[in-house]
Amino acid sequence: MMIDDPRSRIAALRAEIARHDELYYRRAQPELADFDYDSLKAELARLELANPELAGGASPTRRIGDDRSEGFIRVRHRQAMTTLDNTYDEVELREFHERLVKLLGDHLLAYTVEPKIDGLAVSLTYEHGRLVRAITRGDGEEGDDVTANVRTIRTLPHELSGLPLPDVIEIRGEIYLTYEEFQRINQLQEENGLEPYANPRNLAAGTLKLLDAREVAQRELRIVVYGMGFCEPQVVISQSDFQRQLAAWGLPTVEHWAAVKGIDEAWAAVQELDRRRRDFAYATDGAVVKLDRIDQQRVAGFRGEGQAARKLSPRWACAFKFPPDRAETLIRAITIQVGRTGALTPVAELDPVLIAGTTVRRATLHNADEIARKDVRVGDAVLIEKAGEIIPAVVQVVLEKRPPTSVPYDFPKNCPVCQAVAERGEGEVVWRCPNPDCPEKVRRRIAHFTSRACLDIDGLGEEVVDLLVSRGLVKSLPDLFRLKIEHLLPLKKSGEVWAANLIAAIEARRGADLWRVIHGLGIPQVGAAAAKDLARRFRSLESLAAADATSLIGIEGIGEKTAAAILSWLGLESNRATIAELQDAGLHPAAPPAPAPATGSPVSGKTFVLTGTLPTLSREEATTLIERAGGKVSGSVSKKTGYVLAGEEAGSKLEKARTLGVPIIDEAQFRLLLTLAGPAQSPEMPDVPSQNVP
Ligand code: IVH
Repeated sequence: MMIDDPRSRIAALRAEIARHDELYYRRAQPELADFDYDSLKAELARLELANPELAGGASPTRRIGDDRSEGFIRVRHRQAMTTLDNTYDEVELREFHERLVKLLGDHLLAYTVEPKIDGLAVSLTYEHGRLVRAITRGDGEEGDDVTANVRTIRTLPHELSGLPLPDVIEIRGEIYLTYEEFQRINQLQEENGLEPYANPRNLAAGTLKLLDAREVAQRELRIVVYGMGFCEPQVVISQSDFQRQLAAWGLPTVEHWAAVKGIDEAWAAVQELDRRRRDFAYATDGAVVKLDRIDQQRVAGFRGEGQAARKLSPRWACAFKFPPDRAETLIRAITIQVGRTGALTPVAELDPVLIAGTTVRRATLHNADEIARKDVRVGDAVLIEKAGEIIPAVVQVVLEKRPPTSVPYDFPKNCPVCQAVAERGEGEVVWRCPNPDCPEKVRRRIAHFTSRACLDIDGLGEEVVDLLVSRGLVKSLPDLFRLKIEHLLPLKKSGEVWAANLIAAIEARRGADLWRVIHGLGIPQVGAAAAKDLARRFRSLESLAAADATSLIGIEGIGEKTAAAILSWLGLESNRATIAELQDAGLHPAAPPAPAPATGSPVSGKTFVLTGTLPTLSREEATTLIERAGGKVSGSVSKKTGYVLAGEEAGSKLEKARTLGVPIIDEAQFRLLLTLAGPAQSPEMPDVPSQNVP
């Protein structure tokens, strides 16, 4: 076997690591799993140690990755932002502890154990309690000023509440996207023929580095904070105090952390975290074990201190990386799904396999390029990864197990449903069925329109839509409103009651909220939030149809990309015809009520957080009621939350509300509030007292 000489191996490793740093930090398109990246770095560190004469010059072992990009102002951190050393097994974690025991002479060292959030590091500077700046880690010394983008994060207070308020404090945290938001954006991305994002972290990174804060505002970035940089004057003496202080300031903190003594308790807490982390709103890729006492952290110091130009990683903290939820299985077939915009999405049909407690039968293969890049073939053994709620994905082919007879996958040239020749726009990765009458596209468009998220027509789920479309009764959205009982009777034996109910359900939704109709039209880039913005601005389908660039760009929450997508959709004669026909067929959507007065009502201007299952109201229904009364719904509890509306099996949000003293109400009290929110309500009406819900 040929072994590279150390000089060329070191050069090759440095170049390879630099390439992966660029992919991960700047382009947010990593090709390597963290473990494989860390292995490259470990090999380089070993070689540099064994060959000190070759260790000079710029090496990735003496610096951290760099996320700085064009278009942002660069700002120096008051205190450098470092990274963490990763460990992958219990032995390494115990070695970390032993090093500290030796240094500090104490076996029962106090630690905190926290989730390691898989997002993007940022540093928030608060001066006298006011948020003045948000900076990315950059190269550790100097990062990009992303203040405008970070200010769009709704759950981040711009003012800290409560005392003590340091003159200046750098608070370190992680920006992330929830799984739900990740899926929503990726769906739009795929529908628009663009490359889907690989994971929530990459999408959060791409979003934070958008140059237009209005585009950022359309994606719901979140943040969680956990660390302290520069702080003057000092306000805490330990990391656990700091965690409590962050919560008391009203900042979004980690959902679970533990204060422990000694490495056995620390290890138990790491494992406990691994059991709980799948319920968190963000992706976690490990646990962080930190020395609790800040005076002991000072003694431990940083790796690289003194020798390298800059501090690299703290000796007082260590990341334990959890193995990803992965499993190996076999691809039985590759099928093609046709989306409502005609996007042809390949799906791997798998031998069922258990991953993180759920049986996985199908995994997305994203698009033709992705299949070619990974050379995925029918009959291949593959590794499937599943994170949180995300659709399982094929990460890698196990080439050693490839059957000798296998052939490369040939992406179909035709739509599998209507056989139309597939097309691909310039620069697009997605192949599409161009046939506007493709039965699958029609079926999906109609199913979207009638779905709970849009018109919410009772009894008109996917199966019934299938039936109506396959019998040729419904070919377009307006056809739904032309259905008569006599059309439906032949579809089911003794189906009189069914037919009458269905017609009544459609009838009942002729006056549905305008935003639901707009969402149901399936305009690219327009989800529920944008549909609500459009409904508030245009107030009718006619005026939406007459929208121009100026009127769209002027709407808060609608960015340039969305505006362009709406205009191009409205530019198609067939779409304008659909709007006109819907109205001719008797759809008369309800414009949103004029905004409620900002004062006086116990609901208007208040932020609600929903948690648990309510006895009669669904989440969507409660949201609608709150919004109609002029309130807002948010995903997480802070001091600014008006009420937490809690039902059965309410989770950590309830605990947080109790800690922060936010009023907690049940459905009955909520309904009472709504009656008080009516127009006749007196401005002096007192708030309903809070009650703890079991
Ligand atoms: S403490 C001095 N705590 O992971 C180092 N970091 O791989 C301060 N991270 O750079 C880091 N969750 O961006 C800390 N609970 C947590 C974390 C966390 C995620 C990130 C952070 C850090 C990276 C290291």
